[in-house]
Amino acid sequence: KRIVVLISGSGSNLQAIIDAINSGRIHGQIVQVISNKADAYGLVRAATAGIPTACIDHKTYSSREAFDADVRQIIDDTEADLVILAGFMRILSAEFVKHYSGRMLNIHPSLLPKYKGLHTHQRALKAGDNEHGCTVHFVTEELDGGPLLIQAVVPVTSADDEESLQRRVHTREHIAYPLAVELICSNRVKFSTKGIYLDDKLL
Ligand code: GRF
Repeated sequence: KRIVVLISGSGSNLQAIIDAINSGRIHGQIVQVISNKADAYGLVRAATAGIPTACIDHKTYSSREAFDADVRQIIDDTEADLVILAGFMRILSAEFVKHYSGRMLNIHPSLLPKYKGLHTHQRALKAGDNEHGCTVHFVTEELDGGPLLIQAVVPVTSADDEESLQRRVHTREHIAYPLAVELICSNRVKFSTKGIYLDDKLL
């Protein structure tokens, strides 16, 4: 499958997917990386791996729709099968999300439906949770609200602070995201209005 990855920052999840492709754990290829930030380190990772990069700076656009239209154009020019949001810190318009329905994934650093939005580690600590984690889900119009595909759970200890917890979750993200991408690349997962099918069974 042809994959486009959208990033805004460090791109360690992008790196995990690149590594999984290079070692044959994902049967697909990243045909384009797009960042909305020029200084995103993920752009360096992509270039090092020989992947075409583009930077679309949202600050130069007067509306979300205009920004989304240009991002969409770049994605569609690549004839992508799958769009991966990997630390992409922009909310996408409803029209954009609909256009990629069933072929766009996001990773979120919480056990959804808990802690949609930002500051997830801090919120899990404050709530006194003894488990936390990350979720790969299909993107729908509801922010962090689409059907869940994979979750990874980590323990929370009394010694944890936001940083240690974030680090523990991040290492799990790097395992969960490549697995989720391969489930789609190997056609084991299907998205429908009824929900997600894994090996023809409704999850
Ligand atoms: C991750 O924590 C991910 O869950 C969130 O943004 C962060 C991206 O990290 N959506 P990286 O850029 O992949 O290192």
